[in-house]
Amino acid sequence: MKVIEEYKRKLITVEEALDKVKSGDHIITALAAAEPREFLSNLHTIAPKVRDVTVTCCLPMVNYPFFSERGYEESFSLESWFYTPGLRAAHKEGRATFIPNHLHFAGTKRLQYKKCNVFVGTASKMDKHGFLSLSLSATYEREIIEGADLVILEVNPNYPRTFGDTTIHISQIDHIVEVNYPVPEFPNGQPDEKDIKIGKYIADLVEDGSTIQLGIGGIPNAVASQLMDKKDLGIHTEMFTDGMVDLFQAGVITGRKKTLLPDKMVATFALGSKKLYQFIDDNPGVQILNGKWVNDPYIIGKNYKMVSINTTLEIDLTGQCCSESIGHTQFSGTGGQADTAIGAQISPMGKSIIALYSTANVRVPGSEERKTISKIVPRLTHGAVVSLSRNDVDFVVTEYGVAALRGTSVRDRVKKLIAIAHPDFRDELLEEGKKLNLI
Ligand code: COA
Repeated sequence: MKVIEEYKRKLITVEEALDKVKSGDHIITALAAAEPREFLSNLHTIAPKVRDVTVTCCLPMVNYPFFSERGYEESFSLESWFYTPGLRAAHKEGRATFIPNHLHFAGTKRLQYKKCNVFVGTASKMDKHGFLSLSLSATYEREIIEGADLVILEVNPNYPRTFGDTTIHISQIDHIVEVNYPVPEFPNGQPDEKDIKIGKYIADLVEDGSTIQLGIGGIPNAVASQLMDKKDLGIHTEMFTDGMVDLFQAGVITGRKKTLLPDKMVATFALGSKKLYQFIDDNPGVQILNGKWVNDPYIIGKNYKMVSINTTLEIDLTGQCCSESIGHTQFSGTGGQADTAIGAQISPMGKSIIALYSTANVRVPGSEERKTISKIVPRLTHGAVVSLSRNDVDFVVTEYGVAALRGTSVRDRVKKLIAIAHPDFRDELLEEGKKLNLI
C-alpha cells in the first residue's frame, strides 16, 4: 500500500530528528500532553553543536533537561505561552520567558513575529487511508504545521485517536519517530466542602440546555460534580476534562440543545486521567478543533446559553482578575480565560463565571510558614497581571455566594464583592475601599 510505504520512508530515529535542528532555529512543540516527550527529553544532547535555538511551548508536562538544568543556555532559550512549576523555576534562573497571549491568537501572532523552522508534536497510529491524529491538541498545532519548514511527529500507539482538526494525512508530515511512552495524566482532586458550596451556587446559574466551558484549575473541575441534575447540557470548551466525561456518562451532556455543532462535544485540547483518554479515543462525539476557531469569542458567542466557568488567583474590589501571576511572578498564563469569558457574554443568554475560594493559604516569602489571606483585595498585588479586565468580568462566585457584576458601578461592585468575601476580611475590605475612594 502506498501510504504504508510513505510512512516507512518517513520513519527516522529520535537522534536523526535531533540532527535536523540547526543553530538559530525556532522549534515549536505541541501543547501539554501532546508534547513530543522523546524529542524534548533528548534535546539537550545536541547542545554542543547548536547555538541560539528558540523552543516555543505551552504547558509542558515534564521538566526537560534543556531548560531545567544549567549549562544549556547558549544553545537553547525557552519561550512559553503557559507556565508550569518547572517553567517558573527555569524563569527564576533566566532560562525561560513568557509570551503574553489570548490562546486563540497564540499561534497566529507567534508566526507573525517569528517563523517556525521545526514543528514537533505527537500523533496516534496511522489508519489504512494514511490519516493520523494529532490526538490531544489542535490548539495552535494546525497553523504551526502549515507554517513550519519541517514537521516531525512522534507516533505513539498509546495516544487516543481523536477527530476534528487533529486529523492529518501522512503526506503533510516530513518525518515520523515511533515511540511508546504512556500518555501523561493530569491529577484531579476530589471536591471538598468549599467546592461543593461553590458548585451549588454555579449550578443555580446554569440553566438546562446551556453549553458549558470549564477552565483549568481545581474549582472548575470540581464544579462538574454539582451539575449532575441538569438536562441537555452541551460542551464548547478549550480544555476537555474528566468532569465532562462523568457528565456525559450520567446522561447530562447530550448536546441536543446546542446551536453550534449540535450533538458534538467541542474542545481544542484534552488533559486529564486515563479514563478521559479512553473516552475520547475513536469517539466521533468529541471534536478536537482548531483553537483559533474554538476559542474565538465570536465563535463561542454563537452558542445559545453559553456558560464559561474559570477561576482566578486574586480579584480586586472593582472586578479586575489576576489569574496568572502572584504579584509580578508569572504563575501560569491567560490561556483562554478572557476568550471564553468574553465569548460567553456575546452568547444570547450567556453567562461568564469566575469562581474562587474567598481565601488562600499562601506561603510566607522566605519561610516555611503559611498564612490565610483574602483573595478579594482592595487593590491587586503590586505587579499582578490582569488576565480578565473588569470590563469583562460578569458573575463572581465564592463559597459565600454570587456577585453579579454585569452593568454595575464601582460602588455597587465593592458592596457585592465584600458580601462574598470571607467574613474575617469584610470590615478591612470596606475600610480600604473607603480609603481608595471606591465607595
Ligand atoms: N496570592 C498568593 N498566592 C495565591 C493566591 C493569592 N491570592 N491564590 C492562590 N495562591 C497560591 C495557592 O496557595 C497555591 O500555592 P501552593 O501551590 O503553594 O499551595 C497556588 O497559588 C495555586 O492556587 P490554586 O488555587 O491551587 O490554583 P489552581 O491549580 O486551581 O489554578 C489558576 C488556578 C488561576 C492558576 C489557573 O486556573 C489558571 O492558570 N487560570 C488562567 C487560565 C484560565 O483560566 N484558562 C481558562 C481556559 S482553560
